[in-house]
Amino acid sequence: MKKVYLETFGCQMNVSDSERVATVLESENFEMTPDEDSADIVLFNTCSVREKAEHKLYTRIGQIRKLYSKKKIVGVLGCVAQLEGETLFDKNPSIDFVLGTKAVGRVSKAIESVLEGRSKFLDVGEREPDYDWSVAETQKHSPYISFVPIIEGCNKFCTYCIVPFSRGREKSLPAPEIIRHVHKLHRQGVKEVHLIGQNVNSYRPKTSEGLEDFRGATAFSKLLRAVAATGIARIKFTTSFPRDFHTDIIEAINENENLCNWVHLPVQSGSNKILRLMRRGHTIENYFERIDKIKTSDRKISLTTDIIIGFPNESEVDFQDSLKMVDYCQFDSCYIFKYSPRIGTPAYQFEDNVSVEEKKQRFIELEERQRLNQHRIFKSYLNKTVQVLVEKKSSQNNFDLSGRTSCHKVVQFKGSAALLGKIVDIEITESKSNTLYGKVLNTFV
Ligand code: 5AD
Ligand code: SF4
Repeated sequence: MKKVYLETFGCQMNVSDSERVATVLESENFEMTPDEDSADIVLFNTCSVREKAEHKLYTRIGQIRKLYSKKKIVGVLGCVAQLEGETLFDKNPSIDFVLGTKAVGRVSKAIESVLEGRSKFLDVGEREPDYDWSVAETQKHSPYISFVPIIEGCNKFCTYCIVPFSRGREKSLPAPEIIRHVHKLHRQGVKEVHLIGQNVNSYRPKTSEGLEDFRGATAFSKLLRAVAATGIARIKFTTSFPRDFHTDIIEAINENENLCNWVHLPVQSGSNKILRLMRRGHTIENYFERIDKIKTSDRKISLTTDIIIGFPNESEVDFQDSLKMVDYCQFDSCYIFKYSPRIGTPAYQFEDNVSVEEKKQRFIELEERQRLNQHRIFKSYLNKTVQVLVEKKSSQNNFDLSGRTSCHKVVQFKGSAALLGKIVDIEITESKSNTLYGKVLNTFV
């Protein structure tokens, strides 16, 4: 039996695609291995959102070839594969096959072709009409948490972003399929599902089938209510797009305890000038209106975001607007990225005129501002009780276990392995910048 080692870069969609790639391979009599050394086939599921992620691919292929010469088959999957297609073979002639973002269902065919002696196999075609979205029990990234894709691709074309090119146009999965999937996971004992997609709240299925019995201002908030009605313990969803973020989503969260109190709403910049250049489709005032609704909700909803610094023409004044925005929003967490020009995007035509040094300075300043705010937010959890889904053994020696709250914060605590997969009440006794620490009070489901 041939052994396959699969390494995944990038977003949850890639993690989710990799789970299904492994599921297909296992059913086709390949053995998945976490050990690259013993593998016959090495697969990279790639990310192209920033240059750094793409470079990592070339570095890793170089390492594999140096260590094992031509002994292993190397396949490139995902976003870089989709964008580069055939040119990947020119960039790195030691690659054996290339499979685009929607061709991953045909991974075993690609491997078989190479094993039969075909070189440079390429498939950047569409998904099969009857593509199977299920994941084998053995290939899930967690036994208690499952990713459930609800929409693929993106139609927004923000000027800096490669995703509409690497993942194609938005395509929503039919609601009955999603709901059946969640019911099945619930029956299997899964505690938390993450409804995933580049823009989940742009969810627009072809028909309203499966959603007729649910209220909602948009198809997405109907879907949230429908998934809540399955009775699964926890539902999270990422990523949301500000322009399509209808406040009915907050109503749905307020009405349903199992819709988790966490919203990830990337803002990208605090400056209207930059938001316009990014073609985000929202102003900072529109964004603040949504934030006000989230902050005044009946439930304490945590808020996280993505910000890009150093976009072309970002002046000091624009950057100060981003600092003010961060103070206004009081994010529970924030991913900050330095602008990275991507070939093929509209912004690639703009001059990348914020210097490396300025980008570095702005990154540090924004990170520090967020750190101060976050420290205060995390401290406000001291002596409070939170419910934690126990996910894994802790990587820190002093603590045994680690999990996340409904508001998506990491909590570490002492306890026996019997608590894994359970939802427990934890009293918070200590807070650090990114983690809460506490002690177990009660065990629930
Ligand atoms: N440069 C830097 N950051 C980017 N992102 C997307 N494209 C780029 C780019 N070209 C960031 C955005 C997005 C997150 C997933 O990655 O903040 O929300
Ligand atoms: Fe990229 Fe914008 Fe689409 Fe998000 S909404 S994936 S940033 S184009």
